[in-house]
Amino acid sequence: MLLETERLLLRPYSIQNAAALYQLNNDTEVMKYTGDVGYASIADAEKYIKDYLLNPLGQLLKYNMGRLAVLDKDTGEFLGFCGIKTHETSQITDIGYRFMREHWGKGYATEASEKVLEFGFEHHQKEQIIAHVHEHNYGSQRVAEKLGFHLDHRFLWDGLLPGRYYKLTRDAYYHQRN
Ligand SMILES: CC(C)(COP(=O)(O)OP(=O)(O)OC[C@H]1O[C@@H](n2cnc3c(N)ncnc32)[C@H](O)[C@@H]1OP(=O)(O)O)[C@@H](O)C(=O)NCCC(=O)NCCS
Repeated sequence: MLLETERLLLRPYSIQNAAALYQLNNDTEVMKYTGDVGYASIADAEKYIKDYLLNPLGQLLKYNMGRLAVLDKDTGEFLGFCGIKTHETSQITDIGYRFMREHWGKGYATEASEKVLEFGFEHHQKEQIIAHVHEHNYGSQRVAEKLGFHLDHRFLWDGLLPGRYYKLTRDAYYHQRN
């Protein structure tokens, strides 16, 4: 799985990305509205990547999707991640994106997500893709709206955090592209 945009390369994480992924997920400002926790160590991030690459029940091998490393096409620098993922019980597919703080505001989340949505709707023929966004995560909401998502409803994330449930249907995706 290799996706390419004007400035970016998207591909599965490799073990070499462990240190950068650790750094990304251990920046409290980056993680503030994600509901996720960081890794205990770089070795822990390596363990995650090994499972991500090899687990037959994981996103990559089972669904041919998952969060992808986003790299600067010219330098190979790890910028963050972006990708779609299918939730096991509901079979709902969501999009997720997360970038190193020093690279915010350069349009990377939007550019990477546009390609990932194309992959979801064209290659995987998804009927809809959703996004969970914290009520106060205005940057992420803006990205979702730029991509054509609409606010479907509000919900409590893990029964606790105020969340917005955004949706983009296949019809709306093709309508906005034409
Ligand atoms: C959210 C995130 C992915 C956006 O990445 P990015 O590469 O900076 O996004 P883009 O540059 O493509 O677009 C950001 C848009 O949000 C806008 N924005 C950023 N912060 C904002 C804020 N506080 N209020 C309103 N708009 C904001 C930007 O102006 C831009 O819109 P514009 O193109 O109309 O000017 C990045 O900030 C991030 O990694 N955050 C931490 C992880 C996270 O929250 N992920 C999403 C979980 S749902």
